[in-house]
Amino acid sequence: MRIVITGGGGFLGQRLARRLAREGRIGDQPVTELTLFDIVAPPPPDAPFPVRSVAGDVADLPANAMPMGTDIVFHLAAVVSAAAEADYDLGRRVNLRGTDAVVDSCRRLTRPPRVVFTSSVASFSAAPDEVIGPATRQVPANSYGAQKAAAELILADATRRGFLDAVTLRLPTVSIRPGRPNKAASSFVSSILREPLGGEEAELPVADDFRLWITSPAHATDWLLHAATLDTAAMGPDRSVNPPGLTVSVGEMLAALEAAKPGAAALVRRVAAPEIQAIVATWPARFDPARALALGFAAHGPLEALVAEFLAETRGAA
Ligand SMILES: NC(=O)c1ccc[n+]([C@@H]2O[C@H](COP(=O)([O-])OP(=O)(O)OC[C@H]3O[C@@H](n4cnc5c(N)ncnc54)[C@H](O)[C@@H]3O)[C@@H](O)[C@H]2O)c1
Repeated sequence: MRIVITGGGGFLGQRLARRLAREGRIGDQPVTELTLFDIVAPPPPDAPFPVRSVAGDVADLPANAMPMGTDIVFHLAAVVSAAAEADYDLGRRVNLRGTDAVVDSCRRLTRPPRVVFTSSVASFSAAPDEVIGPATRQVPANSYGAQKAAAELILADATRRGFLDAVTLRLPTVSIRPGRPNKAASSFVSSILREPLGGEEAELPVADDFRLWITSPAHATDWLLHAATLDTAAMGPDRSVNPPGLTVSVGEMLAALEAAKPGAAALVRRVAAPEIQAIVATWPARFDPARALALGFAAHGPLEALVAEFLAETRGAA
């Protein structure tokens, strides 16, 4: 299988590339070539197959980013939530025009590839206790969410036309993200666990009873791989899935932090950030996972497992 990852230098792109390199296969097929595409040429993992690193702008996708014979495209390149809200032109260019460019590149291939696209919980807005079902209408309350929802429709239509075969995952907030805070409005969801687990202070911009829909990096990667190989006949024309994430409150996250490292929760400082709250307050926290489970997306373990997974990986990387 020839695979392309746009945004291949990012958090999930690098994680996915390392996993493909480790396993050497996707589903029951061997990987024969991997192309990592990003603004800066992404670091290639050590792999049992050739890895190409290509630099460029996804909105102006160069031909060498999508070689002939590409079977699977993971389209992850994006300007994330707070950055897309702060810079409308940049968000629209990368998140919308970038998806157009992926569609056009797929049209030049001789066979329609599977395109796995990462949409977001931010493509919905909901009252705090509303449960989002598979057919709930997307009413985004920020530019990032609107760009993701629009890209979903563009990919579904390109699928209907036979240009490609799309599966969109509306990802929950992925936590715990290693490294430093990024420009996602949800960045604090990782910071309030990651920093205190490392002995550092973190800022919390929402109340303790604030609820979130989250997933672990390992689960997000499992879902991406499943989306790449699942039989799309069962999906019909609706190519978007709300995968089975985990609903947690900030208070539950702090309790899991304290259980993993006594005293760590005291390192979390409450700091008002109205611009962050305005974005995340509209994101739903409860989803009905029935369709995703029927399509074979794996259900989530408990919050404690997510913290343990991060600690094990951090120790492994040390
Ligand atoms: N991490 C999460 O919590 C989360 C949640 C929901 C959805 N998503 C979506 O999943 C995908 C991956 O997320 P991530 O956390 O790895 O984000 P990330 O910011 O780490 O990675 C995105 C990558 O896109 C690249 N990119 C930005 N503009 C580009 C351009 N013009 N041309 C080429 N590349 C460009 C960036 O350089 C970056 O490496 C994104 O589409 C994101 O919107 C992520």
